Amino acid sequence: MAAKTLLLALLAMASSLAMASDPSPLQDFCVADKDSKVLVNGFVCKDPKVRWQPKSSSSLLAMASSLAMASDPSPLQDFCVADKASKVRVNGFVCKDPTVVKAEDFFSTGLDKAGDTGKKLGSNVTAVNVNKIVGLNTLGISMVRIDYAPKGLNAPHTHPRATEILTVIEGQLFVGFVTSNSDNGNRLFTKMLKKGDVFVFPEGLIHFQFNPGHTNTVAIGALSSQNPGTITIANAVFGSKPPISDEVLAKAFQITRMAAKTLLLALLAVASSLAMASDPSPLQDFCVADKASKVLVNGFVCKDPKVVKAEDFFFRGLDKAGDTGKKLGSNVTAVNVNKLAGLNTLGISMVRIDYAPRGLNPPHTHPRATEILTVIEGQLFVGFVTSNSDNGNRLFTKMLKKGDVFVFPQGLIHFQFNPGYTNTVAIGALSSQNPGTITVADAVFGSKPPISDEVLAKAFQVDKKTIDWLQAQF
Ligand SMILES: *[C@@H]1O[C@H](CO)[C@@H](O)[C@H](O)[C@H]1NC(C)=O
Ligand SMILES: *[C@@H]1O[C@H](CO)[C@@H](O)[C@H](O)[C@H]1NC(C)=O
Repeated sequence: MAAKTLLLALLAMASSLAMASDPSPLQDFCVADKDSKVLVNGFVCKDPKVRWQPKSSSSLLAMASSLAMASDPSPLQDFCVADKASKVRVNGFVCKDPTVVKAEDFFSTGLDKAGDTGKKLGSNVTAVNVNKIVGLNTLGISMVRIDYAPKGLNAPHTHPRATEILTVIEGQLFVGFVTSNSDNGNRLFTKMLKKGDVFVFPEGLIHFQFNPGHTNTVAIGALSSQNPGTITIANAVFGSKPPISDEVLAKAFQITRMAAKTLLLALLAVASSLAMASDPSPLQDFCVADKASKVLVNGFVCKDPKVVKAEDFFFRGLDKAGDTGKKLGSNVTAVNVNKLAGLNTLGISMVRIDYAPRGLNPPHTHPRATEILTVIEGQLFVGFVTSNSDNGNRLFTKMLKKGDVFVFPQGLIHFQFNPGYTNTVAIGALSSQNPGTITVADAVFGSKPPISDEVLAKAFQVDKKTIDWLQAQF
């Protein structure tokens, strides 16, 4: 009886608690500055230039590519023009005093001017984001002009925080994107565009554009973030600072270390781009996925709550090691909404990852999630690569022991490698019911149908024969 009363009292309390959802990231990461006296929702950001990289930064690494992030926060006022002069670091920028805001804050000029396409890839992106128009702060949108010389390529890349919609203004354009590693995954969708055509590249997916013609092409695109970020796959994977170890790259791409070194030296500019928005916030206690329903929505429709059972929130077997016998020596057992229907709308899921000695979870990204991981057994060398901002494509690595915890920010390319002689086990949580995984090597070299060797040869600055050989490995 007393228990019942307590229960009711607790339930009444719980239902009156209002919870704000977490803000979406507006940059690769925003490490909490616990020393700051500035109070905001969450924490202000540490200066990103201060490295929190371990002293024991060793030479070995693994490549990776993972990059995706959530969408921009909704504005809470008419505008919040970025105050670039402020020393306070927040997610995005703090607002300028609205009384001194002028039309110029929402203005930029020169998008009629072609970018110089003289560099080796033959394309040039002119971005008009929050760094060029301070008024874009909190508004969740930005614009680009892209110029392509004949045979010019905008190499495979991803935008961790944005969907892109693009229209051809002049010339012709061959475009494509690759889906994530779901069942039937890494599918390549391509289209030949003419003047006036419009194409969408879903948030976080690896995509490219190529001008197959003999005349210049111009396209105008819009992106659903004030600061979409760009992760060019070749740069992030083969050109990070410091470089990812050739051992890791050789394993990830199933090539010899010598070939990895060659690629490492030769390539540049390829790209990888993949990111998506965060999960919807729940609008009720739960919404268990009704897999039998024919109605298609974002996520799944809800089961009748009256027939929901504890089993809907339950999964058994994460104590069992996955089989690490395949060539990379790692195995991810994912417990997402497909295995645990109760996760629908809740924005979280879990994985167990097993690594044989020298086992690699190759460079990949989760388009819809940040990942937090702890080592249960063994040791793990982990790393992630930032996007192509100034000082971009920086590699952050850390050697983890049992009990250590590491975070891979949403959408960034990351990897884990077991450098030891014993098995390693890690448990991770991801901030999405269905985080998605894009394994860079598979998506770039193993899509169905394959991305043309002409595009890849140009992106990685190697000959077509090398690309054909690489593609044969997947
Ligand atoms: C793009 O074009 C601008 C303007 O011509 C030029 O300053 C810039 O260096 C070019 N960028 C690349 C990557 O070629
Ligand atoms: C992972 O392990 C499971 C269980 O042993 C096995 O069925 C599956 O094929 C493995 N996956 C890979 C990619 O090796």
